[in-house]
Amino acid sequence: MSLRNRLTEYVKACFTGLWIESQEHQDALTEIAQLCHDEQWQLATWDIESGLSLPGVTEADVGSHDPLAAIRAINTLATPNGTAILVLQNFHRFTQSAEIVQALYRQIVAGKQNRTIVVILSPVVQIPTELEKMIVVIEHHLPDRDQLEEIARGIATEEGELPEGAELDTILDAAAGLTRMEAENAFSLSLVRQERISAEAVWELKSQMLKKSGLLSLYRGSEDFSSLGGLSSLKAFCKRSLSQSGRTNPNSLPRGTLLLGVPGTGKSAFAKALGRETQRPTLVLDIGALMGSLVGQTEHNIRQALRIADAMAPCILFCDEVEKALSGAASSSQTDSGVSARMFGTLLSWMNDHRSDVYLIATCNDISKLPPEFSRAERFDAVVFLDLPGSAEKQAIWEMYLKLFEIDADQPLPEDENWTGAEVKACCRLSALLDVPLLQAAQNVVPVAVTAAESVERLRSWASGRCLSANQPGIYHHNIDSPKSRRRVSRDPSIN
Ligand SMILES: Nc1ncnc2c1ncn2[C@@H]1O[C@H](COP(=O)(O)OP(=O)(O)O)[C@@H](O)[C@H]1O
Ligand SMILES: [Mg+2]
Repeated sequence: MSLRNRLTEYVKACFTGLWIESQEHQDALTEIAQLCHDEQWQLATWDIESGLSLPGVTEADVGSHDPLAAIRAINTLATPNGTAILVLQNFHRFTQSAEIVQALYRQIVAGKQNRTIVVILSPVVQIPTELEKMIVVIEHHLPDRDQLEEIARGIATEEGELPEGAELDTILDAAAGLTRMEAENAFSLSLVRQERISAEAVWELKSQMLKKSGLLSLYRGSEDFSSLGGLSSLKAFCKRSLSQSGRTNPNSLPRGTLLLGVPGTGKSAFAKALGRETQRPTLVLDIGALMGSLVGQTEHNIRQALRIADAMAPCILFCDEVEKALSGAASSSQTDSGVSARMFGTLLSWMNDHRSDVYLIATCNDISKLPPEFSRAERFDAVVFLDLPGSAEKQAIWEMYLKLFEIDADQPLPEDENWTGAEVKACCRLSALLDVPLLQAAQNVVPVAVTAAESVERLRSWASGRCLSANQPGIYHHNIDSPKSRRRVSRDPSIN
């Protein structure tokens, strides 16, 4: 429902305290002003810089920059049968003051008698406890596709400036998640540059804006699944669940995958390749950085980030090493007065409730640090375990990196018993860098499975019977006394 419709309902039902959460005050104000005009309601606005502006009165006459006086001024607008609305911009800045809270309280109560309504317009929701029960919150949402299209049509007025059909769809995809003003800017820039609106220019601006907001960043890599050896079952699973297009039932939308595994097995690399492979944009959510931001803002930030992701659907949302960010959630009441616990709660409820086509891919190196609620089955489509690669997978990885680093394949390969893909890559890289045989380069490679043997073993036994296998179809089973696989690398004739 639009801001206008919700506002109408609440005002007609005589809710006298409203809090509009909006990133775009100008736009919200325009909508409110139109509504007031159509309904013949009186409207006054206030902000700290320009003071109070009442209809038909110039600022000099009223001119109060005092927030207390502003609240009281609404009564001068009251008429016997009419409705009056006072919009206070960025008033969250003043709600720390006891006098202001009291004045708001009194006004919200008195407003029921003379139909005067106080509206606080602010980018965040910070309602003082005293007023919690008296104020309702309305979210001013980011523009949807139709609104974005309307904005684009408003800007591209000349023939041929706005593409139609599938190209228009990609442009609107690219613009999803932008505010109205950001979308306007992106479209205008694109027009100036290319004389027509194009998706590339919109993407470029969008990644800048995401970066600026500090909540999400847009990952654009060139790797797809062909840059990863092995992991065949994981690749097939994700690809299949993401390629069922045209789903109409929101309950059957894919939700996401949790990748669990030994460091260096390609979890992050897989998550990064997924977007390119399935042609969806990849948004990176850095929970750690969100936590580090201003304490009171953390929950707001994560909600805002998830909202942007929702607006950008279909997309992939990538959280790397979630256990690092979430490990504090359980002990949060002692360490950070519950901030991480509340933020974690926000994330969990989004994971349960969201109906948007946002595919969450999260990676984790250590399940014991992850709050158990997170990995519960219904939140993800699958929890997949990435074990050390088997001999066939390793062979594929060797071939890939020998080729990539242009290494002579006609030489003995080192003993790679406990190696991960990362170690094969490191060995090839060193060999190419130092121009030494692989056997010599291997002397500088220390496999994680050896240095962290215990935690690898712990991870494997945890995953056994609980997770899907990344390499074989079906459930992962840890076979404690599996025969040490003998490795034999056949030479790929295409390498010379
Ligand atoms: N199966 C694989 N095929 C190709 N490269 C791999 C594979 N596994 C790991 N790598 C490489 O090893 C490096 C580290 O992998 P990464 O994805 O960061 O591991 P993780 O996130 O699991 O710790 C990356 O450069 C990645 O390309
Ligand atoms: Mg990683």
